[in-house]
Amino acid sequence: MIRFPPLGEMTVETFLRDYWQKKPVLIRGAFPQFESPLTPEELAGLACEEDVNARLVLETAGSKPWEVRHGPFSEEDFMALPEEGYSLLVTDCEKAIPELMGIVEKFRFIPDWRIDDLMISYAPAGGSVGAHIDQYDVFLLQGYGTRKWMIESQPREEVYIRGLDVRILQTFEPDQKWVLEPGDMLYLPPGIPHHGVALEPCMTFSIGFRAPRLTDIVGGVADMLIQRVDPDSLYTDPNLTPQDNPGMIGSEALATFREKIREALTADDDLLDRLIARVITDRRVDLTPFYPPNEVMEVASLRQLLADGLALMRTPAAHLALIENQSGAFLMVDGQETRLNHQTQALAEYLTSNVFYQGDTLLKLIEEEEAAVLLATLFGHGALMWQDSENYEGNNFSEEEDD
Ligand code: SIN
Ligand code: CO
Repeated sequence: MIRFPPLGEMTVETFLRDYWQKKPVLIRGAFPQFESPLTPEELAGLACEEDVNARLVLETAGSKPWEVRHGPFSEEDFMALPEEGYSLLVTDCEKAIPELMGIVEKFRFIPDWRIDDLMISYAPAGGSVGAHIDQYDVFLLQGYGTRKWMIESQPREEVYIRGLDVRILQTFEPDQKWVLEPGDMLYLPPGIPHHGVALEPCMTFSIGFRAPRLTDIVGGVADMLIQRVDPDSLYTDPNLTPQDNPGMIGSEALATFREKIREALTADDDLLDRLIARVITDRRVDLTPFYPPNEVMEVASLRQLLADGLALMRTPAAHLALIENQSGAFLMVDGQETRLNHQTQALAEYLTSNVFYQGDTLLKLIEEEEAAVLLATLFGHGALMWQDSENYEGNNFSEEEDD
């Protein structure tokens, strides 16, 4: 459990019961004395990096109103920007700067598999991306400067101005308005019309959530189930009888297929759980550049490096999850499953309940050979990475580091 969820005086229980997926809430001082771990210049620098997903929204300075340009950008792109009337948005920031997991980690009062990314935006005074609706839950943390947020507190239909690169609502009649200072945070469930206007140069940290599309889960599970069907097995009808209308697909043929389909899609709860978890934790291929390179790691070297004081963390792009059902416990990592046993269970619990891992704790957990091999394998696949001690010095965000 996260010890200090950024909910002010509110408990996690109250937040989940009264607000999560239900209604907006403003939390003043959610991150007391919040200081942005990166400057607007550093955000612009990030937006110039290959593989980083960055967008510039130009309100009037583009070739058309509300033009969107996609990164990576160059220094010249930033030099050519107007004084005002634009926003820079960079998604998946924590994948590119693993240190930012210290912020994302604070939101683990919601399960990891529901957390999508940390997007950071910058806007000069007056800048915004217009009034719009998002289909996902979001926490809008004011990172730097002040921003005025306006919302319509009830979800409603999305009707956007046609022909723009960005989705801007045709009408917007806010009934709630707040000015957010650094450390203040606004939670919005899906469907709430909102509009944030920078009152001075400002940065907003959006912790966004993902909700799997049900068709993706059902489709993904069905794809895996049908892999059990022999691809060489064809329909046979040695008992075919004459039929009056050759244009009919006969009831016997239909019955045969019905039976085959039911057979193919039949799975017990244990298997279904594992397949669902595989789909949910599947690797996002667009994030491959943010994994450390695959590296074979001998158990002995790993133990030595940990004993030398190096610490590991979860690769921010990696999806780790634990599932337990009647057939046992499984560690799911980027769509791959490992059945756990008495040697590996405690390690898997530590890896899934934390993001930053301490060397001495890991050393104790890998005394058993199978656990050591599991840790070395996960490291080798890039699901774990070294904590960069330079980056982490003075980091106020990671609880592990504070201990
Ligand atoms: C922004 O950071 O400019 C926009 C965030 C949002 O509205 O979701
Ligand atoms: Co939004």
